[in-house]
Amino acid sequence: MRFRSCFGVSQVKALSSRFRRLYSHLRPQGRRPSFGIAFDIDGVIIRGGNPIGGSPQALSRLHAEDGTLKIPYIFLTNGGGVPESKRASELSGLLGVQILALQVVQGHSPFRDLLSRFENDLIVAVGKGEPAKVMLEYGFKKVLSIDEYASFFKDIDPLSQYKTWRINQNYEIMKNMNGLYSRYNVDSDAVKGTFIVSDPVDWGRDIQVLCDILSCGGLPGKAKGHQPALYFASDDLEYQAAFPSERLGMGAFRIALESIFNSVNSTPLWYTSFGKPNPYVFKIAESVLMQVASTRYGGQCTVDDTKENKFSTIYMIGDNPMVDIKGATKAGRPWFSILTRTGVFKGKDNHQEYPADIVVENVDEAVEYILKKEAL
Ligand code: G3P
Ligand code: MG
Repeated sequence: MRFRSCFGVSQVKALSSRFRRLYSHLRPQGRRPSFGIAFDIDGVIIRGGNPIGGSPQALSRLHAEDGTLKIPYIFLTNGGGVPESKRASELSGLLGVQILALQVVQGHSPFRDLLSRFENDLIVAVGKGEPAKVMLEYGFKKVLSIDEYASFFKDIDPLSQYKTWRINQNYEIMKNMNGLYSRYNVDSDAVKGTFIVSDPVDWGRDIQVLCDILSCGGLPGKAKGHQPALYFASDDLEYQAAFPSERLGMGAFRIALESIFNSVNSTPLWYTSFGKPNPYVFKIAESVLMQVASTRYGGQCTVDDTKENKFSTIYMIGDNPMVDIKGATKAGRPWFSILTRTGVFKGKDNHQEYPADIVVENVDEAVEYILKKEAL
């Protein structure tokens, strides 16, 4: 496995200038706090679409009475599938505080920085939600979701006739939609990059089609060829959703794809995984948090690594020891890890292999601890 992770300073600056415009009518109130908070989403803030652990109340404590931001915080999730702007408004509605796109770092957010490499190439976006829309919003020009792409190829999925839920997209429909898809010629235009944006929905079909793309130089059904690039937004083996026990995540899909690809090809699959626990993602989070803090407090602080632009503490509140706590621990100070019992971790004491700095019941208790410690 190869890992290369990046999130452009330019991207952070672009988002922060939007944030600054939105808050331009507000006068800075006092000094900016010397600490910041990164919230994991699934298993900490939300579970199965509903707020958990007193999250609305906990977040409201970070805002002033008029709703403006008092304490710099972001969401640092390995999840995704919708543009950051949409996620921010969904979270705002659910949690009752105003959250801006800049405050949302999703697993796929670092894909933005691959724009210069794939801007005009045909790329395929995989996963639940709106994976193609996510990539189009990042600026990629020629994007097809795997649903759309598979529909161009008659018989690519020998099981499609048994999938009674697949009513909208099939080969016949796509053939008659030439207007919309006329600029795509999948028979001659090779796929240059495949992006697993969010948890794949139809694993069997997706593994089949990805093996076709990746084995045949981006042209399914043609001769074996050079493997196009493959990127995963995260590598979570499991995550906490509504069901009582953990659900298989993108890391599990990666294992399945890699194992099958390597069994039917002579050269091993190569890929890049982003997302926590990679320390680079924590660097990104630090930069974004600094932008949130500086824009809110009127400073001209940039993402440069100067002394004044450092936090004394950044709290990572997460539910997954292997992802959130391992990542924050590897990132080192100023990161301080807080493990909740509302998600993947359900133990009594601290996690054995990846112990957090402290363990609490839920996010409300975590925020209470932080505000007390910071004497606020
Ligand atoms: O699919 C979502 C999952 O992999 C993790 O989300 O918010 O716990 O990082 P989160
Ligand atoms: Mg989580």
